[in-house]
Amino acid sequence: MSINITFRNKLPPVIKSSLANVEKPYLKGHSQPLPKKNRTLHNNDNNQDYKIEDLLKELNDMIGLDKVKKFVHELQAFVEIQKKREQENLLAEPLVLHMVFSGNPGSGKTTVARIVGKLLKELGVLQKGHIMECERADLVGEYIGHTANKTRDMVKKALGGVLFIDEAYSLARGGEKDFGKEAIDSLVKAMEDHRDNLILILAGYRLEMEKFIQTNPGLRSRFPIHINFPDYTIDELVAIGELMLNKREYEFLPEARLAFKRMIQNMNFLHPYSGNARMIRNIIEKTIRKQAVRLYNSKNLSREDLIYIKEIDLCNDEI
Ligand SMILES: Nc1ncnc2c1ncn2[C@@H]1O[C@H](COP(=O)(O)OP(=O)(O)O)[C@@H](O)[C@H]1O
Ligand SMILES: [Mg+2]
Repeated sequence: MSINITFRNKLPPVIKSSLANVEKPYLKGHSQPLPKKNRTLHNNDNNQDYKIEDLLKELNDMIGLDKVKKFVHELQAFVEIQKKREQENLLAEPLVLHMVFSGNPGSGKTTVARIVGKLLKELGVLQKGHIMECERADLVGEYIGHTANKTRDMVKKALGGVLFIDEAYSLARGGEKDFGKEAIDSLVKAMEDHRDNLILILAGYRLEMEKFIQTNPGLRSRFPIHINFPDYTIDELVAIGELMLNKREYEFLPEARLAFKRMIQNMNFLHPYSGNARMIRNIIEKTIRKQAVRLYNSKNLSREDLIYIKEIDLCNDEI
């Protein structure tokens, strides 16, 4: 049995993120806030311990996503209060925390799932809090019995953390005879077997996910939490790009920022699925490489030269 959790509106306020909150010590000529070994952007951070406040800050620093942030705060409060009730021998709601994250690619689902996993570890719900990302091909096999084995392997790797299944609706592709159905059955079994130490997050396009969940009554009751990740607005995409640059200790010159916004506006027009922070990341990474090429042959580079992005550095090969 599982109980549907309805999160209400009376819980801790969400601190609105704004770029003004981003610390920029690199602009003052001293940017050593982290120990040397951590001064890369992509920390291999499995098994590291995080403080709840740091995780909430990481979430709040994300651009937009107000409802998602609010939900995570509610989740935190809910878990903490249920634990306290348990300590007082009061009835506690069962923690059925399997979730559906719906939204277009690049809308922040994986990033938020990663934070939620770590948070649930800090809250004592999960032992490890890591996330195992997988998709249909990682779960579904080619012959009878193969699927159950593959699914079991993925579940094993995810134990103590989050099993994040991207484009989960594709498990229902092919109908009754498809091995996808076997994967769903194995997952449901794993959810029962590892009730206390595994959280599943199913992710995918909103309409496909709604259909998938609706046509699987067994799943509907097992996934009480549904979170929608809306597409980002143009201004949010610009802010995301700027945040990505700042995190890498770069800055737009004013005319470059304007040109970046114009680029996003055109891109938005060309791409109907515009809520795409991943495309922004590609642009930012290419832009950084282009700045490097521009600087490569100059002598006497100043700190400012290394930090600032000019309009000519902007690079988007995708339009
Ligand atoms: N609201 C946001 N603020 C800042 N960066 C974001 C935001 N949403 C997504 N990103 C960044 O965009 C990229 C793609 O996000 P991701 O979580 O992988 O999207 P999805 O899983 O929905 O496809 C990542 O680099 C992520 O850090
Ligand atoms: Mg993803």
